[in-house]
Amino acid sequence: MFPGPRVTTPDEFSRFKRQIKDKTGLDLESYKSQQLERRILAMVKQADQPSLGHFYRHLETSPAALRLFLDKLTINVSDFFRNPERWDHLAKTILPDLARQRPKLKLWSAGCSIGAEAYSLAMLLTEMNRMATSSISATDIDDTSMKQAKSGLFSDYDLKGLPPHRLKQHFITQPDGMHQISEPLRRAVQYRVVDLLKDRYENNVDLILCRNVVIYFTEEAKAEIYRRFYHSLNDGGILFVGGTERIVAHREAGWTMISPFFYQKS
Ligand SMILES: C[S@@+](CC[C@H](N)C(=O)[O-])C[C@H]1O[C@@H](n2cnc3c(N)ncnc32)[C@H](O)[C@@H]1O
Repeated sequence: MFPGPRVTTPDEFSRFKRQIKDKTGLDLESYKSQQLERRILAMVKQADQPSLGHFYRHLETSPAALRLFLDKLTINVSDFFRNPERWDHLAKTILPDLARQRPKLKLWSAGCSIGAEAYSLAMLLTEMNRMATSSISATDIDDTSMKQAKSGLFSDYDLKGLPPHRLKQHFITQPDGMHQISEPLRRAVQYRVVDLLKDRYENNVDLILCRNVVIYFTEEAKAEIYRRFYHSLNDGGILFVGGTERIVAHREAGWTMISPFFYQKS
């Protein structure tokens, strides 16, 4: 094993980011550079490559290595009902209010990872008896985590945040110890690969969940994503953000913060 890549210059990083964009379409310039570069260098070291240039050539010649690189880059840690007290607010106030106002609900989990967020929504709508009149889209840039999402198969570890009564109600435990989400919930969520930095967004949405995704992006990229979410929403629609996230100058951009982490399109 090499002792680690030699010191990498800003020019080398710029070239690497350009090459990745040309090859895969992923725009690394929109991700926070320090965090990103630290993670990339750790991967260069792990792949036993002496420099960033060597690492790129390795990615170019090995589709498997390129796939692994992209998977690792877009960290996809997720939990069912992540930050339960906020999901409680969603379940008790936000969703019932929306459901009262609209005969049909369109929901979008943007940056859905393994699907925990989308299936948490599907559970709430089922418990509210509103699944039949709702649609849930779930999108992510990472094809691998979405494959798990589509399979609906989760380990004990994946389900660590899930209350036991929901495990019992919505999952079937397999002989190998994995738990599969029930068929109606699996059919309730439509998955699609979407890069939030460049692809088309959903429209006429009533509720968007985009949580723990934009933390990796530059301030400019964040502002653009929130601007595009605003246009995706119906009037009065709501954006639910992650525990460390907020929309800078939200009033000027047309948002009303109706409670912490919930923004409404005015
Ligand atoms: C930490 S997970 C968050 C999952 C879930 N929203 C939650 O809060 O539990 C971040 C997700 O953002 C996705 N992501 C990163 N860059 C993205 C991009 N440009 N477009 C769409 N999704 C992206 C990653 O693939 C990953 O699944």
